[in-house]
Amino acid sequence: MPNKCIRVGILGIGSYAPDKILTNKELETIVDTSDQWITERSGIKERRIASPEQATSDLANIAAKRALEDANVLPEEVDLIIVATNTPDYFFPATACIVQDYLGASKAGAFDLLAGCTGFIYALSTAAQFVISGTYKRILVIGAETLSKVVDWEDRKTCVLFGDGAGAVLLGPVPEGYGLVHSKLGSDGSGKDFLSMPGGGSRIPSSKESIENKQHFLKMNGREVFKFAVRSCGDGTIEALKEVGMSSEDVDFFVPHQANDRIIRAAAKKLNISFDKIAINLDRFGNTSTASIPMALEEAVRQNKIKDGDNLVMTAFGAGLTWAVAILKWYDYRNR
Ligand code: UT7
Repeated sequence: MPNKCIRVGILGIGSYAPDKILTNKELETIVDTSDQWITERSGIKERRIASPEQATSDLANIAAKRALEDANVLPEEVDLIIVATNTPDYFFPATACIVQDYLGASKAGAFDLLAGCTGFIYALSTAAQFVISGTYKRILVIGAETLSKVVDWEDRKTCVLFGDGAGAVLLGPVPEGYGLVHSKLGSDGSGKDFLSMPGGGSRIPSSKESIENKQHFLKMNGREVFKFAVRSCGDGTIEALKEVGMSSEDVDFFVPHQANDRIIRAAAKKLNISFDKIAINLDRFGNTSTASIPMALEEAVRQNKIKDGDNLVMTAFGAGLTWAVAILKWYDYRNR
C-alpha cells in the first residue's frame, strides 16, 4: 500500500579501500607521466589498488558489513541490496547476489545497476522509491569498483586517474522533515563513446582480436567528459535545487563525484560554495567511480562535518553519459 508520508534517509554508512597504495611517483616508473602533471591536471596524489585475489564484491562486502554495523541492523533485516558498479565480478550473476550471500542477507532481493560513475546516485534514487512507497524498510546501496583491473596500464591518459574502493549506505525511513528531498537523473547517450569499455559485450564479443586491439580496457576522451562534467555538476545541481525551491545558498555540505579537482573547483565556483563545505578524497583515492561519493561522504560523517538538519547535496557524472543530483536533509542517526 503506497504511503506518500514515508521519508527516506541514510541510517548507516561504511567504506573500504584496499591496503596497497600506488603513488604518482610510482606511476612515473610505469608510464610516461609525472607527479607534477597528475597533481596539476587532476589533484590526485595516490590511489588504492586491489590485490590480484580481490574482486569488486570483496570490497563491497566489507563496506556493506560496516554500513550494517554502523546502522546496528542485522543482515537478515535487509530487504534489498543494490550494487552500483562498472566493474562487476562477472557479467552475470550480479555482484549484489555475491554480497547477499556473503552477508547472509537471507531475506534480501539483489541486483546490480549500471550508470557509469553516476551509479551510486542512480541506485540511491531507485532504492529510495521502495522505501517511500512502503514496499521495503532497509536497503543497502553500495558503490564498488576494481577499476585497476580494466584500465590499460600502458595508457597514461587513463591509468593515472582511477582507483579501487567501495562505499555503502543503509537506507530506511527517517522522521518527518529529514531525508531525501529530491533526486534528479539525467543522461545523454550521444556521448556513449566518450567513456566506455567497448569489448566483451554483445557489440564486440571477446575474441583474440578484441584482446589484441585492447578493446577490453577502459577508453576515455578526457576533454569531452571534462566539459560534460563541469556543465552537469554546476548547472545540473542548480537546476535540481531550483526544482524544490532551493538555491546554492541553501547548501550546507556538498559531496561531488571525485574525478578531478578542477571539475570540483569549477562546480564550486558556479555554486558559490566555499571549499570547506566540500568533501574531497580524490587526492588519496583517485577516481573510484561509483564508490567515490559514499567513500567521501563516510569520511565527512566521521569527521563530523555534516550536522543534523544540514542540506546535503551529492552530484555525479559519468559514462553513458549520465549525471545525477540528490538533495538530502541530513538525519544524524549516530546521535539518536
Ligand atoms: O568519472 C568520470 C571519469 N572521467 C573524468 O572525470 C575525466 C574528465 N577529464 C579530465 O579529468 C581531464 O580531461 C584529464 C585529467 C583526463 C586530462 O586533463 P586535460 O587537461 O584535459 O589534458 P589533455 O587530455 O588535454 O592532455 C593534455 C596533454 C596532452 O599532450 P599534448 O597532446 O598537449 O602534447 C596529453 O598527451 O597532456 C598529455 N597527457 C599526459 N602527460 C603526462 C595526458 N595524460 C598524461 C599523463 N602524464 N598522465
